[in-house]
Amino acid sequence: MPDAIFADARLALIYDAFDGPRDDLAAYVGIARELSAGRVLDVGCGTGNLAILLASTGHTVVGVDPAAASLDVARSKDGAAPVTWIQGDASAVPGLGADLAVMTGNVAQVFRTDTDWAQTLAAIGAALRPHGHFVFETRRPERRAWEEWAADTGPVTLNVPGRGRVEQRRVVTSVSWPEVSFRYTYTFLADGEVITSDSTLRFRDRDELEASLAAGGYRVLDVREAPDRPGREFVFITERGPAGS
Ligand SMILES: C[S@@+](CC[C@H](N)C(=O)[O-])C[C@H]1O[C@@H](n2cnc3c(N)ncnc32)[C@H](O)[C@@H]1O
Repeated sequence: MPDAIFADARLALIYDAFDGPRDDLAAYVGIARELSAGRVLDVGCGTGNLAILLASTGHTVVGVDPAAASLDVARSKDGAAPVTWIQGDASAVPGLGADLAVMTGNVAQVFRTDTDWAQTLAAIGAALRPHGHFVFETRRPERRAWEEWAADTGPVTLNVPGRGRVEQRRVVTSVSWPEVSFRYTYTFLADGEVITSDSTLRFRDRDELEASLAAGGYRVLDVREAPDRPGREFVFITERGPAGS
């Protein structure tokens, strides 16, 4: 079950406003072009920003996400029609034959156990063509992003078009290495409704990621920076093995 921030209908409708400008996505469009990917699978596509951008630049795109409310937001956007939207996780599209699977927005950190992560790598492998690429980002643990989150107590209040003024507060509720938990509280100031969303993210270091990818049958081609967040992210560019691997 995805976190309320993605799965609650009222929160999904304000997600993009609080997420802010998506300066991260151009790099992924560039990578899809660099890899000459025709068919792209966006795993954990959320409210669909990257999937729609990729479709608008000529890629055939399938977006999967377990959060129906986020997919409803995605489907309602201009440019959403050419994308195939599927509710589920990566295991929903075996045999898709994708040239490229992407996971942006640090989706990789929602997979808390080694088993969850290994199963996700296997499911993505099954959705890729032989030698297809898997590109994802995850926060560098050594950057200790949660310390900034804990220091930044907000609140942030936005006037969200069509939704009115909404206040967001975030507190870090626990750091139990390698997991960090936090809670968002949203107050819809027009009617006073308060909705909370709890999340726990798993941090993995580079060695751990490389070992898990090798065990899952992926070759690491490169580990890059996210150009909009220098020093903060690993961006893994990987290639699935041949058929039957
Ligand atoms: C931070 S959002 C990122 C969304 C999108 N990739 C983006 O960049 O805007 C994380 C997304 O991961 C999704 N998610 C949660 N569990 C998942 C799973 N098991 N498989 C795939 N996606 C999942 C959530 O529903 C949510 O949409």
